[in-house]
Amino acid sequence: MILSIESSCDDSSIAITEINTAKLLFHKKISQESEHSKYGGVVPELAARLHAEALPAILEQTKPYFSDIKAIAVTNEPGLGVTLLEGIIMAKALSVSLDVPLIAVNHLIGHIYSLFIETQQADFPLTVLLVSGGHTQIMEVHAIDRIEVVAKTLDDSFGESFDKCAKMLNLGYPGGPEVEKLAYSGDGTHYPFTVPLSQSPKIAFSFSGLKNAVRLATLEAKKEDYPHIAASFQKTAIAHIVQKLKKYFKTNPPRKLAIVGGASANIKLREAVESLIAPYNAPLLLAPLAYCSDNAAMIGRAAVELYNAKCFSSIETLQMSPKSHL
Ligand code: KG4
Ligand code: ZN
Repeated sequence: MILSIESSCDDSSIAITEINTAKLLFHKKISQESEHSKYGGVVPELAARLHAEALPAILEQTKPYFSDIKAIAVTNEPGLGVTLLEGIIMAKALSVSLDVPLIAVNHLIGHIYSLFIETQQADFPLTVLLVSGGHTQIMEVHAIDRIEVVAKTLDDSFGESFDKCAKMLNLGYPGGPEVEKLAYSGDGTHYPFTVPLSQSPKIAFSFSGLKNAVRLATLEAKKEDYPHIAASFQKTAIAHIVQKLKKYFKTNPPRKLAIVGGASANIKLREAVESLIAPYNAPLLLAPLAYCSDNAAMIGRAAVELYNAKCFSSIETLQMSPKSHL
């Protein structure tokens, strides 16, 4: 079995995954969202302190598995430096005390493997749209060690733009589900926000201009207009993703497409991408809702592949990095 730890942002999570079957035997996650909500975003120092409380409490519940643990997996990049370190310290201590190797897992690769939790065979090649709080990118995934990033955001991420929009509309954190909920009672055509980079041939994303347009609209708006702002913002942000995917597919038609990351929970995004790929006859893969946001089960699932490929680290070689190598 592999014990995996995730602490890259504001979710403390530990999982136990069976190596031979990739079966998830234990999974627990303690979300800090309510603690950060009053600040309108994640406070790194507070997040680190909360991980230091939550991770040992979850770890205690995994004691019955200790004698079967063959490796400790941990998210080592990307994320908040101080929170990544909480998981890494625990992983290194466990590696020493149980005398098993470490497996370093990139968080974005973890999100890709959220598609294959409880599935023995990871299904590649796959085109992946990753939409999270920190990243928005299109990737061509051939294997765990052959991932090509074909488009990135130039500034904010898709999820982050929802968080910022939510803050401007006095909604809670995380903003994605809140904005999505409010948007249902609004008219998405009420504010004609410009779709970012629509005139640019570049296949890249940008959300900072849209964020500013939302800010300006909010300054003039009455409270009863807020649902219209949420709906118009969401419609425009999704139109941007769809436009760029469409452009990319012109030269690289998808055979199989997946949407992963916390914001892949957005129903309107899922529907828009589903209709976009309908003519291609390409299946759309989505992780179960419970595994869209950050969790240690996806880290454990990716770690099974790395274990089989003998990609181990030691307490000396495992390094933390706030930035992703992908
Ligand atoms: O993957 P994730 O849990 O954490 C990171 O790796 O960043 O993604 C969290 C992000 C947040 O920005 C959150 O607002 C966004 O995903 N999100 C959503 C929705 N649910 C979560 N964005 C849009 N619509 C949603 N329903
Ligand atoms: Zn994530």
